[in-house]
Amino acid sequence: MGTKDRWYENATFYAIDVEAFADGDGDGVGDFEGLTDRLDYLESLGIDCVWLLPFYPSPNRDNGYDVMDYYGVDDRHGTLGDFVEFAREADRRGIRVIVDLVVNHTSDQHPWFRKAREDPDSEYRDYYVWREDLPEDPDPVRGPVFPGEEDSVWSYDEAAEAFYYHRFYHFQPDLNIANPEVREEIRKIMGFWLELGVSGFRVDAATLMIDNKGGLESTRLDDPHGVLRDMRHFVERRGDDAILFAEADDAPEHLGDYFGSTTGRQPSNAETAAELGEGDEMNVLLNFLLDAYLVLALAEREAGPIRDVLDLLPPRPEGGQWANFLRNYDELNVGRLPEDGQQKVFEAFAPDEDMRIYGRGIRRRLAPMLDGDPDRIRLAYSLLYSLPGTPLLVYGDEIGMGDDLDLPGRTAVRTPMQWSGERNAGFSTADSGELVRPVVSGGEYGYETVNVAAQRGDPDSLLQWFSRLNRLRGECPEIGTGDCEVLDVDDPAVFAHRMVSDHGRVVAVHNLDDRPTEATLDLVAEPDRLLGEAAFEQVRPDSGGTAVADGNGDADGSGAAGADAGAWRFELDRYGFCWVRVEQHV
Ligand code: NOJ
Repeated sequence: MGTKDRWYENATFYAIDVEAFADGDGDGVGDFEGLTDRLDYLESLGIDCVWLLPFYPSPNRDNGYDVMDYYGVDDRHGTLGDFVEFAREADRRGIRVIVDLVVNHTSDQHPWFRKAREDPDSEYRDYYVWREDLPEDPDPVRGPVFPGEEDSVWSYDEAAEAFYYHRFYHFQPDLNIANPEVREEIRKIMGFWLELGVSGFRVDAATLMIDNKGGLESTRLDDPHGVLRDMRHFVERRGDDAILFAEADDAPEHLGDYFGSTTGRQPSNAETAAELGEGDEMNVLLNFLLDAYLVLALAEREAGPIRDVLDLLPPRPEGGQWANFLRNYDELNVGRLPEDGQQKVFEAFAPDEDMRIYGRGIRRRLAPMLDGDPDRIRLAYSLLYSLPGTPLLVYGDEIGMGDDLDLPGRTAVRTPMQWSGERNAGFSTADSGELVRPVVSGGEYGYETVNVAAQRGDPDSLLQWFSRLNRLRGECPEIGTGDCEVLDVDDPAVFAHRMVSDHGRVVAVHNLDDRPTEATLDLVAEPDRLLGEAAFEQVRPDSGGTAVADGNGDADGSGAAGADAGAWRFELDRYGFCWVRVEQHV
């Protein structure tokens, strides 16, 4: 994929669960008809790419991540024809679509599994992972992903008279990726959706997919990352500029490996991106590590954790990109933070046991975590959008939707989109008892108060702010591909950094605390405001042609030798922030 085709490096992603977004046929369940009707909204919100959570035929016991047919649309959401109409209309508006590729496992209702369990001689038997007996010592590294909901990764199947392996729920048997037939099926599935015009796949559970499933000899892959490399080659062959956007929640030292590298160096060992050449595995990785540390920074009201995570993240090869998010559609997983950091996050944002899940996560949306404070919510997203990578929102973030802790588990954050103050939040015309999930009603986050219609006409609303932010982010390719440099400031509550590329340089400064403060930065040119209301003024004039030395011989270390616009003081209100552009080359 050539440089010009790397659209994802500078795109805003927006995750949609079709069943909870908009109901077009009034049966209480969201569908493609409803989603297509809302494309004008998405266009005006300024997002570039929609990530559709699974919409395939499914018993729907894990929000569609239990797929029983990879080639269709679940009846509840419409037909394949409705999908094609949607994809075409999205394309007409310049909005790309990526779809979830859930091939670590299938539903136990998938015909492959049914045949596999019923007939030991079936060609599908070896599509899954079997054992005659339970292992004597359960593998501590390969325990259930949802502790408390599953006790074991092995379940007994009466018909098969054997145990099958499942890292997730017992109704999601793991596919045996070591079987070449399974890998061929995966290629066929990708080929199908690429023909229908998708711009790529969100690869579910990429880490577990290439794991040595069950620790068995028969499932050991000689070259685990070769599976991902092969998928990438296939997508490039068939998909023009389509991408793989992966859920790879791995330890920092392994994380970079999912990008791959054309020079043979592994990102985990390389010092710089240049040593890696082009990435040859996943184009984009969901940045779970950044999420956890960012939330810790918000909890501590200090910038330290952001500096820490930028050091922890591996270098990206050319064309490798992070998808940065604050909340996704699962629990907010803080399991990779040091123990005391986890406790700080829980105390600050999930003080009640009921707000926590799996011992590692929070089942709340961001707005209630931040007490609905509009300044702090904007601060959090401004910071997110300014960090190296590309941003990802989940539907409803843009209006500050809340959650419903009365709903079980992760469902708390999966309530229907709040379109208006009308019945059922304008999500559906069905009886409220028919809705796929209840809408959040009453109180600070109820649809009567928080909804698209109310915010659309209000220039000061969060929705309008996000529309501006999304467009602004598109104008700042430095953030997508540039080098990030953290700037020194006196106040530990302030995070200041600069993103520099051939395009120019963006400097951003954020105050994570609720007390006003200031930060003084040396700049190489007069700043132009891009975002935020912080006042700024020059407090030391330029040196009259002699660059201010900061160790690199350049003012603010920007690489612009000789350029100096003196020092500038930024007055930051509570949770104040500011982005400026200093010297644009094109
Ligand atoms: C990751 C998805 O994000 C999650 O919602 C799902 O339960 C698991 N994969 C299993 O597919």
